[in-house]
Amino acid sequence: MQTQEQRREAEGPVVHLVGAGPGDPELLTLRAVRALAQADVIVHDRLVSDAVLKVAPDHVMRISVGKAPGKHSYSQSDINALLVHLARQGKKRIVRLKGGDPFVFGRACEEIEALEAAGIAWMATPGVTAAQGCAASARVPLTHRGLARSLRFVTGHCRADEPLDLDWAGLADPQTTIVFYMGHAAAPELSRKLIEHGLSPSTPVLCVSQGTMPGERRLFTRLNRLPRDLAEAGLPSPILIMIGEAIGWRASPHATDGRFDEAMPRAGEPALDERGEPGRAR
Ligand SMILES: C[S@@+](CC[C@H](N)C(=O)[O-])C[C@H]1O[C@@H](n2cnc3c(N)ncnc32)[C@H](O)[C@@H]1O
Repeated sequence: MQTQEQRREAEGPVVHLVGAGPGDPELLTLRAVRALAQADVIVHDRLVSDAVLKVAPDHVMRISVGKAPGKHSYSQSDINALLVHLARQGKKRIVRLKGGDPFVFGRACEEIEALEAAGIAWMATPGVTAAQGCAASARVPLTHRGLARSLRFVTGHCRADEPLDLDWAGLADPQTTIVFYMGHAAAPELSRKLIEHGLSPSTPVLCVSQGTMPGERRLFTRLNRLPRDLAEAGLPSPILIMIGEAIGWRASPHATDGRFDEAMPRAGEPALDERGEPGRAR
């Protein structure tokens, strides 16, 4: 019996919106690996890691549509037009590879609307979003019975010179974990606003730079120290900022030095025990 995917592909070109995860190729889904293996062409963002791109066979054409200094960069409408063009050109399996999950701050809907307007079929394959990848790599929970009963993914990106228009009162809930995507530049504002709206200045914060990739670095700090510590740390992008009591579940014995790197193991290293020493996982 044919799968829905096979039926669609028998009828014509299909654009596969595929989540590449946060960087480590081991976090790809089996379906993503299959899509990469069978692709005619891969259209990918700058955030997609080289290690993930290597999963596809060498002969598969790769088109980078990410913004990189000194290179031609594609606007969103250029990308929409490119996908439609590739399908009309006769490419059968077009993989649109996006960092993390395509439906989490991935602008997938704009591409889908362009494909549907052109009568081109599409399918979605989820990916591990940065929040999940970074939390697992740092071995911190996003929710916790007693510490965090809800989890919010929030964009920290706003237009130049405009303040962040967010539900600060709703976000400043001590039982919520907030994950800020694209929040690096807005860190001073989000720290100030959350404290103004009642969140404790000592709320734990974890910043993960290049999460799940070989260059991963982490900074543990507190909400009131976030702007200063993040500026001093000079971490390379992409950076994810996670705020909440659940984030500090493991780190509390070390929370004074402002350097999570020293307090927590990196991916692949032994976990810390209750005294904060490498040893058995709690
Ligand atoms: C445009 S959003 C795309 C999010 C993506 N669709 C996802 O589900 O993870 C880009 C932001 O995601 C976060 N991000 C993505 N990959 C990351 C990684 N490997 N480490 C840390 N942050 C990451 C950063 O905040 C970055 O600015």
